Amino acid sequence: MIIAIANQKGGVAKTTSTICLGGLLAEFGSCLAVDLDPQGNLSVGLGVEVADSQLSTYDLITEQVEVGEVIVSTKSGISLLPADITLAKGETEILTKVGNFLILKEQLEPVKSEYSHILLDCPPSLGLLTVNALSAADAVLIPVQCQFFALKGLAALLETIQSIQKRLNPELKILGVLPTMAEKNTVMTKDVLNSLRQRLKGIQIFEPVPKSIKFTESNLAGEPIHTYADDSKLIAPYKEIASLIAGE
Ligand SMILES: Nc1ncnc2c1ncn2[C@@H]1O[C@H](COP(=O)(O)OP(=O)(O)O)[C@@H](O)[C@H]1O
Ligand SMILES: [Mg+2]
Repeated sequence: MIIAIANQKGGVAKTTSTICLGGLLAEFGSCLAVDLDPQGNLSVGLGVEVADSQLSTYDLITEQVEVGEVIVSTKSGISLLPADITLAKGETEILTKVGNFLILKEQLEPVKSEYSHILLDCPPSLGLLTVNALSAADAVLIPVQCQFFALKGLAALLETIQSIQKRLNPELKILGVLPTMAEKNTVMTKDVLNSLRQRLKGIQIFEPVPKSIKFTESNLAGEPIHTYADDSKLIAPYKEIASLIAGE
């Protein structure tokens, strides 16, 4: 099963959620995580610094190599297709290619059966890399930060998902929305959760992930939250989603 983690807003915990879910899924079976953000935060967050000569998702998306050549293992047990800033150049290089939205799907094909789950960590835009992710995915998880303007932009994302379902990938499902950085008992968090429930009828809203500095610390340590912090309140929302995904 291939899951895209997408939201064109930056800083909503796409990458953190990819690491947390990936770590749990790697324990259930095996997980490949794909860094589709030229900022390379997923790679760094898994403890991988991409060296100048190293193959990355740039080489994959520009079809210069096969997927197996790019995969690296990480200490968390997650296999990784790493990225660095060259990926930004890659996105422009494939702009005029025919069928460019299907490159990632085709490139992942040879390893699809080797991993029980593949997670696609999308960049903060609705550009060609995100469209590639949504075309390759079976389902999309949408992290939403419990902050002012959290819902701004969500309509555009849902419209993009609908167009992709209609034209490119009829099998794409919305796994659900994951509220992140929730602060218990604050008016803002309550407002965001209420608006999500009212406006997104028919879409699963998962248990919110609490706001905690432990997530940033675990990112810096290159570890998923469940091995970094022994705090079930922080881990529970990710466990719920990982069990749901693994059970399918
Ligand atoms: N639940 C959380 N509580 C507090 N900080 C968090 C939480 N989840 C993520 N963060 C932090 O928020 C910042 C943005 O998260 P990140 O996963 O990089 O977002 P995105 O990939 O959507 O840009 C990072 O510094 C990360 O450590
Ligand atoms: Mg990110």
